[in-house]
Amino acid sequence: MIEIDEKKCVGCGLCAKDCPAAKISVHDGKAVYTPECIQCGHCVAICPKGAVSIPEYDMADVEEYDAKTFTVASENFLHAVKFRRSIRNFRDKKVEKDCMEQILQAGRYTATAKNRQACRFIVIQEELDRFKDLLWDQVPEIVEKMKAEMPHYAALFKFMHRRRSRHPEEDGLFFNTPACIMIAADNALDGGLAAANIENMAVAKGLGVLYSGYLTRIINACPELKEWLGIPDTPLVCCMLIGYPAVSYKRTAPRKKADIVWR
Ligand SMILES: Cc1cc2nc3c(=O)[nH]c(=O)nc-3n(C[C@H](O)[C@H](O)[C@H](O)COP(=O)(O)O)c2cc1C
Repeated sequence: MIEIDEKKCVGCGLCAKDCPAAKISVHDGKAVYTPECIQCGHCVAICPKGAVSIPEYDMADVEEYDAKTFTVASENFLHAVKFRRSIRNFRDKKVEKDCMEQILQAGRYTATAKNRQACRFIVIQEELDRFKDLLWDQVPEIVEKMKAEMPHYAALFKFMHRRRSRHPEEDGLFFNTPACIMIAADNALDGGLAAANIENMAVAKGLGVLYSGYLTRIINACPELKEWLGIPDTPLVCCMLIGYPAVSYKRTAPRKKADIVWR
């Protein structure tokens, strides 16, 4: 699972020290790996000689540290987090494929529990109109299913459905988004963390996002929609609308006082 190039290894032991599973040790001046591990790649990342690789992964993906590009000034980062807004009004502009791919990288590189990397990202842009129609067609049936246990949501979705039937431009679920990113994962936190990085990257690229709890709820209640998305047996943890914002905000929005316990 982990390969150590003996010729390159200088036996410094950094990989052994940093391995969270203690699966590497140094013998006779060379690092030795004992299976099995979670393939977190710390050994690859820390080796000063580039002696470690994980054959299962595409090692061409690995980037060398460069002090010039490794700087997100903390004040800029906080500024970006504060200025990020939920976007419900998008420009009539597609998200370019390479831009979308970079945004998805931010999700793919997010930490996952046990390094499972088990999030599935579904991007809907080309077939968005088809998906919207399919979803709205399912809403009356979903409303019936939700009536008993979630009367509030049933009433809300019924209202939205009626309004959209009369005024197709008033789409309270998709608004006028050009694209959606869905994240399916057994571990909800894995999906949520990936979503946050995706949003931050989207904002850094000049795009905006809306997390849609409503769409997530609707899709999880409908096997036909989950089948269409290719996730029949995996929970959808996050549905994001994504596109270029047609709104601009002049200042941050106020927040409640921080609820922090210091001990
Ligand atoms: C998990 C989650 C689900 C959300 N679901 C919806 C939704 O279904 N529809 C919607 O209009 N806004 C939704 N929002 C957006 C929140 O209403 C929004 O974050 C809040 O109003 C604060 O505004 P801001 O994001 O611009 O700071 C959701 C946000 C989160 C984090």
